[in-house]
Amino acid sequence: MNTLDRNKFVLHVDDEVLILKTYREIFENSGFQVDSFVDPVGALDAIKDSPEKYSLVVSDYNMAPMNGIDFFKELKAHNYFGIKYRAIISGEVGAGYFNSLCRKYFDLSSEELILFSKTDIRGLTSFLERISYQYPIGNEGLKEFYRLEKQALMKGYRPEEDFILEDCLFEDGQNILDAGCGSGVVCRMLALLNAKKSINIHGIEISKGTAELAQKRIEGIEAFSNIEFQNANLEEIPHPDSFFDVIICRYVYEHMARPQKITDELFRVLKPGGILIVVDTNGLLINIRSAYYPELDNYQYKLQERGIPNFDFFINDNLPAYLNEAGFEVDNCMSFRDLPILFNDDESRLIEKTRLREVFENAQGVLAPVFGGDKELGQYVDLVNSVLDDSRTKFKYDKRVWKIRKS
Ligand SMILES: C[S@@+](CC[C@H](N)C(=O)[O-])C[C@H]1O[C@@H](n2cnc3c(N)ncnc32)[C@H](O)[C@@H]1O
Repeated sequence: MNTLDRNKFVLHVDDEVLILKTYREIFENSGFQVDSFVDPVGALDAIKDSPEKYSLVVSDYNMAPMNGIDFFKELKAHNYFGIKYRAIISGEVGAGYFNSLCRKYFDLSSEELILFSKTDIRGLTSFLERISYQYPIGNEGLKEFYRLEKQALMKGYRPEEDFILEDCLFEDGQNILDAGCGSGVVCRMLALLNAKKSINIHGIEISKGTAELAQKRIEGIEAFSNIEFQNANLEEIPHPDSFFDVIICRYVYEHMARPQKITDELFRVLKPGGILIVVDTNGLLINIRSAYYPELDNYQYKLQERGIPNFDFFINDNLPAYLNEAGFEVDNCMSFRDLPILFNDDESRLIEKTRLREVFENAQGVLAPVFGGDKELGQYVDLVNSVLDDSRTKFKYDKRVWKIRKS
């Protein structure tokens, strides 16, 4: 399944037919399919009938017999039927009374409801772009599982290279979380390093297939009997407050759709005095540079200018703000080290080519418009492959390891 098409259905309700028509075009241009309703009651019925169909509900504010806020209050009473995103469009957005009315019923900071002014078409389209490109969960299953296992063997990605050993030695009774654990390589390393300790290692992974395979991989192995994998979203961690002594989050931040929401959750489930360790790299595709291929730079600048939704190429620059906002005392508690990864051996080259091919396939819908079309994207991919095939090319990622204690 192509993730870019996954659940890209929007339900739109507005009592003006002309507006419905205009927005249909906007949604369709962003790759969404649309069900349009002039009547909010009919829209509610459609949602109740098949909530799993929609990933986004968009409503006008001024409607009869029910305005947009009452419409979303009704949905909220049913936990939004599990629909992930909700937006209200109104000419009143920005007016104090309207915003405070929305704030009264919905948590705007966590995007429970997103407000768009009628004139902010650009804001709406960039939002649609953001939510329509997610980490390629559609790749889940064996393919993604083995990609992660293989990546963990590659120089620069080996978990044992990322951490300071003392940070991975725990005490009896401690609960450890590997947030966004993928195939479970970090969990397994931690279990082996603490073989004589009685600790509990929890891996949380949003991809159901990957979480199941991670669990299967350790089945019947005594050394890994203290690991438990769980399929869940880090935006809603299924553990009580202050549950974990240590949280590790490796190569996940760069993929997060809502990093602040997840950082808040990590803060919530970490004990006071507990430690959060984040490992991530600045730059992905964008760091493939070669003095021998200056024409590549023009493409990279285009990517840089646009920013690719949900791939934060500058996560290491942005992370302190998320941590600060969540309540971590960044200034006092942080220690970090930089680990630039440099490699140019044949095996790494092959793994990198395979990884990039998958990225290009998954992100085609997002990347093609950046370069001006499918043909131009094809030219870019060919160029990247030539650069990768050239033995003079070196790869360099700027990896950083963050360690922060919750006061
Ligand atoms: C690049 S992989 C890294 C996996 C693992 N941490 C490692 O070091 O091998 C990123 C993982 O984060 C998971 N992920 C992304 N967003 C997530 C979320 N909101 N909740 C839980 N897992 C998430 C992805 O499904 C993927 O398996």
